[in-house]
Amino acid sequence: MSRHRGKLMFLGGLIAALAVGWLGLPIVLYETIDQPLQFSHATHTGDLLGMDCEACHTFDEAGRFCGVPGIALCATCHEEALGDSPAEQHLVEAFIHPNLEIPWLVYARQPDNVFFPHAAHTVLAEISCERCHGPHGHSDRLRPYQRNRISGYSRDIWGSNIAGIASAPWDGMKMGDCSRCHRQRGIVESCQDCHK
Ligand code: HEC
Ligand code: HEC
Ligand code: HEC
Ligand code: HEC
Ligand code: HEC
Repeated sequence: MSRHRGKLMFLGGLIAALAVGWLGLPIVLYETIDQPLQFSHATHTGDLLGMDCEACHTFDEAGRFCGVPGIALCATCHEEALGDSPAEQHLVEAFIHPNLEIPWLVYARQPDNVFFPHAAHTVLAEISCERCHGPHGHSDRLRPYQRNRISGYSRDIWGSNIAGIASAPWDGMKMGDCSRCHRQRGIVESCQDCHK
């Protein structure tokens, strides 16, 4: 009887230790950094303003994706505060009046040696923004940026689960995640396509 209890206690301890490692590891593994400004996509893309993604996320003449818009675009509407939210106050006082760019932390940003052409995906292949970025374009607040202390990668690239089990199609964008979709769609790829 007591031998059984010993085994049970051992098992219980083992499970508890695993649980602490499993749940605690991501907390230790990831450095958490707040965005420089609270921005709500929902305010701009929702019913109030109904702006298209393309109003802020454009391509230049050469077909290069312009990424996150600069402060000049924000200033077309926010030269002075339109409402009384603290976030907008911060925008106007800390960035628009001194004419400073906002140092956004880009969740999806790949290492410098990776080449990712947006137009091939969104224009030619007509893949939705949601497929790779989830509901970000309609989110009402910015979650903190999480950087893996060992690999230096953003958690959005590494994947939310440390065992690599994806919870959604956009969860994780490592090399294997790019290639899996290319394979599914019959795209022939070579190293130089993505590493220039
Ligand atoms: C008013 C301008 C504006 C509009 C309209 C807009 N965005 Fe954004 N977008 C931003 C700004 C500013 C950021 C940087 C802050 C952030 O990460 O949200 C951003 C960032 C993003 C990012 C994050 C990239 C990353 O990995 O950090 C995605 C994805 C995105 N936008 C998708 C969309 C989609 C999809 C739509 C249309 C439904 C859209 N946006 C409409 C201004 C805009
Ligand atoms: C077409 C006009 C327009 C543009 C361009 C625009 N905004 Fe806004 N923005 C608004 C309006 C309208 C509101 C709602 C104001 C209110 O009632 O509080 C708003 C609200 C905000 C707020 C207040 C909190 C919230 O709801 O998000 C922030 C912060 C903000 N915008 C940031 C930005 C940034 C950063 C850019 C540039 C990437 C930008 N806006 C571009 C019109 C615009
Ligand atoms: C096939 C996947 C995929 C699709 C579809 C996609 N993106 Fe991205 N997006 C990425 C990747 C990968 C990056 C990182 C690129 C890099 O680091 O060079 C990124 C980066 C971004 C960024 C940050 C750019 C920067 O470096 O500052 C924004 C903003 C963005 N995407 C918005 C959008 C919007 C808006 C759409 C829809 C029109 C869209 N994306 C569709 C995969 C995708
Ligand atoms: C959801 C599916 C999907 C994902 C995820 C995806 N791709 Fe693609 N990719 C495509 C498709 C489809 C094409 C072919 C587009 C066309 O030419 O019609 C393509 C084409 C490309 C091309 C060739 C473009 C050219 O010059 O012809 C490169 C480079 C590329 N992808 C890089 C990447 C990288 C890097 C990632 C990961 C960060 C990635 N892709 C993730 C679907 C995807
Ligand atoms: C479809 C696009 C794509 C292709 C094709 C591709 N890579 Fe990558 N590669 C990536 C992306 C995205 C990353 C960054 C994320 C990661 O490390 O998984 C990466 C990262 C790497 C790294 C760094 C990994 C690390 O852990 O530091 C090496 C090395 C590499 N690739 C080698 C190769 C070689 C060799 C080939 C050809 C056999 C190749 N890649 C083909 C997209 C691609």
